[in-house]
Amino acid sequence: MLQLSTIDPVKSKLKALAIPVAEDKNLHRDRKVNALVKKIKEFKEFKGAKDDTITYYEPHGFNSQRVIFIGVGKADEIDLDRLRVMGGRMVKKAMDLDLVEIAILVPSIKNLRLNPEDTLAAIGEGARLANHRFDKYKKPKHPPLKRIKLVLGTTAKPRYRSLITRVDTICEGTIQARNWVNTPANDKTPAVFAGSIKKLAQKAGLRIDIRDERWLKKEGFNTMLAVAQGSQNRPRLVVLRHQPKGAKQTVALIGKGVTFDAGGINLKPTGSIETMKCDMSGAAAVAATLITAARLKLNTNLIGVIPIVENMPSGTAIRPGDIVKTWAGKTVEIGNTDAEGRLILIDAMAWAIDTFAPKVTIDMATLTGACVVALGEKIAGVFSSDDQLADAIIHAGNYTHERCWRMPLPDDYKEQLKSEVADTGNIGTTRWGGAITAALFLSEFVKDTRWAHIDIAGPAFLKKGNAYGEAGATGFGVRLIYRLLETFI
Ligand code: BES
Ligand code: ZN
Ligand code: ZN
Repeated sequence: MLQLSTIDPVKSKLKALAIPVAEDKNLHRDRKVNALVKKIKEFKEFKGAKDDTITYYEPHGFNSQRVIFIGVGKADEIDLDRLRVMGGRMVKKAMDLDLVEIAILVPSIKNLRLNPEDTLAAIGEGARLANHRFDKYKKPKHPPLKRIKLVLGTTAKPRYRSLITRVDTICEGTIQARNWVNTPANDKTPAVFAGSIKKLAQKAGLRIDIRDERWLKKEGFNTMLAVAQGSQNRPRLVVLRHQPKGAKQTVALIGKGVTFDAGGINLKPTGSIETMKCDMSGAAAVAATLITAARLKLNTNLIGVIPIVENMPSGTAIRPGDIVKTWAGKTVEIGNTDAEGRLILIDAMAWAIDTFAPKVTIDMATLTGACVVALGEKIAGVFSSDDQLADAIIHAGNYTHERCWRMPLPDDYKEQLKSEVADTGNIGTTRWGGAITAALFLSEFVKDTRWAHIDIAGPAFLKKGNAYGEAGATGFGVRLIYRLLETFI
């Protein structure tokens, strides 16, 4: 879908050419382009300020039917996300016009403080991510474009080609995660969701095992099964493996896969329950990241462990007060059946660590409303006692603009998880610091491996769309973890 192009932006016959414009500097090398930009800036309504937009039809001397100008503000203030937003706006504009393709003129390198690779990647990413509509159940008003051409002023270096393929593939992974999350729970029971992962995983060359209830019972995944027991839709454990020859390090990724979180017997009230199909966003991000890694032949061993259940109230559901023995052997008193994510994660994590002895383990989960209270809807919480790992995640998030904020794991808060009758409870004794007590609960099941927990309850699913994403699932975590794997591991 993304294509690198070296066409002449002036002479080529196009339906739409999109040109980024800064307030204070020329971003392009072409004389005719700069002359046209100068002319446009003579209009009052367009100065190149951030988000300024103007469309100019059949400009003299150009062969494009229309030129779409998008302002990016002062050249020195341009960062990667501003470029993503710009790319997204350009595509959105072309989609609104029902066009089939757009050619985006990439700023020529010397006039920006960003390096050319990052510039190209960010524009491509914003454009590609914006070019998606969740159309499974409703025909979109304007369908996505067929092609997005990124026009370079210079000859396209071979490394730019592989860069564009990489960006395209990572975006495709992100979009796959979005599609899974946006799918309603009636069409993604654990078996169906696992089957959908299998189809794509096999095509990408991953090894996949889907474990059913019988296997889970035999192996003792009792806390995971306890969550699942209230639903007619039986659980699955998906294990994905990307094990390229010669790779040394193993990273385990664990994703919370609750296809619908009704809360169980502690039923969620109106206002909290409606969007709970999103409670498998961690699972979607993990599966999509592994598929992306296989497609791009990433040189790291990756294990994806994805527990998938539905959390429902029923005559067979677990009750508050029930005591369950975890895979690792500790007993847990269920204080609240709506704190189910941590129950499925501890079995999956303890098993993954024991089975694969990963160097690093990272779990992603829409785990707590408390994390959304703490950090809002756009920022994820990162919990780790490993400073280097936490820093690397935060850096990766700053790069991809999937922002992460480090949260504490204070030892003395652990006393809040105490139970009179079992080794631990599954909720804290106070309402406060719920994201922290959840993370501390998980920390009891990771032994001494390098581990980080990312609570994505806020940014996984948004009420409002933005420049490069519709309302609903964001695909948060795919770009983040891929960047982390490329830079840290
Ligand atoms: N799936 C929810 C967390 C959540 C909230 C995800 C908002 C996305 C948006 C989780 O299973 C949950 O219900 N957590 C409870 C824990 C409480 C019972 C200790 C919560 O956050 O209220
Ligand atoms: Zn819950
Ligand atoms: Zn949940």
